[in-house]
Amino acid sequence: MAMTSEPIRFTDGAGYDRFMGVWSRLAGQEFLDWIAPNQGQRWLDVGCGNGAFTQLIVERSAPLSLVGIDPSEAQLAFARQHPLLQSVAFVNADAMALPFTDATFDLAVMPLVILFVPEPAQGVAEMARVVAPGGTVAAYAWDIEGGGFPYRDVTEVLSAVGRSTPMPPSPECSRLEVLSDLWATAGLGDIQTKAIAVERSFADFDDVWDTLLGGPSAGQALAAMNEEERSGFRALLQARLQPAGSGPITLSGRAHSIRGTVPGP
Ligand SMILES: C[S@@+](CC[C@H](N)C(=O)[O-])C[C@H]1O[C@@H](n2cnc3c(N)ncnc32)[C@H](O)[C@@H]1O
Repeated sequence: MAMTSEPIRFTDGAGYDRFMGVWSRLAGQEFLDWIAPNQGQRWLDVGCGNGAFTQLIVERSAPLSLVGIDPSEAQLAFARQHPLLQSVAFVNADAMALPFTDATFDLAVMPLVILFVPEPAQGVAEMARVVAPGGTVAAYAWDIEGGGFPYRDVTEVLSAVGRSTPMPPSPECSRLEVLSDLWATAGLGDIQTKAIAVERSFADFDDVWDTLLGGPSAGQALAAMNEEERSGFRALLQARLQPAGSGPITLSGRAHSIRGTVPGP
C-alpha cells in the first residue's frame, strides 16, 4: 500500500458515517457480542468520532454512564446532534492524555482508533489507568497490514495510478501480536484476541463511488485529482470492483479485536 505523510482528516461526520461508520457498526456488533459487557456500567469510548460505535453501546448495553472523547470537533458535532446520543458526554480530548482520574470507568473501548494514536502504548496505558480494577480495556482495528482494510481495492488502484492514500500513523497496531504486546505492557491481564470478518453490500458502483468521495482517506486522494484524472480513476476502479459492469457490489473487511482486564482488586 502506498504511504504518504498526509494525515487523514476527520472533518465531516456525515461523510465519515457513510464511508466508515457503517463498517464500524458491522464489526462493532460482533465485538460487543464478544466482550459481553454487563448492563448498567460506566463506559468510556476513546476516539468515539461521530458516535458510530457509541450508538451500539447505548442500544445494546444500557450504560449507567457513557463518555466519548475525540480530538475532532467535526466528528463530535455530528455525534452531539444524534437523537440516540443525547445522554452521552462528549469531550474533546486525546487518547494519550485522558482528562479523567484513575479508576473512573468499568470499560474503556477504542473502536477503529488505535491505528490513529501516534503513541499507542501511551493510549493503552491511559485506558488501563482510568478503568477500575476488574474492568475491561478493549479495542478493534482493521487488519490493514494483513489485507483486512475494507477499501483495500481502492488504495491498490490509487497506488497503481501513482496516488497515495493518506494513512494512519500507527498501522503496525493492526497486527495481533503488536496489540497483544501493547495490552501486556500496560499491565492488563486475561488478554484475549479475535478476528472479526464483515461484509457490506453497496447498491451499485455509484453507491461505492459517492461513499468514497464523501469520506476521509481515499476521499482525500480523489479530491486532490483533477476531473480528467478522477474520471480515469473511476473507470479503473469500476473495472476492478465490477468486472460484469453493473449490479450490487459487496466489499469485505477483517478487524482484529483485543480485550484485557485491569488487575485487582
Ligand atoms: C476511524 S475513526 C473511528 C471513529 C469511531 N470510533 C468509529 O468506530 O467509527 C478514528 C477516530 O480517531 C480519532 N483520533 C485520531 N487521533 C486520535 C487521538 N490521538 N486520540 C483519540 N482519538 C483520535 C479521529 O478523530 C477519528 O474520529
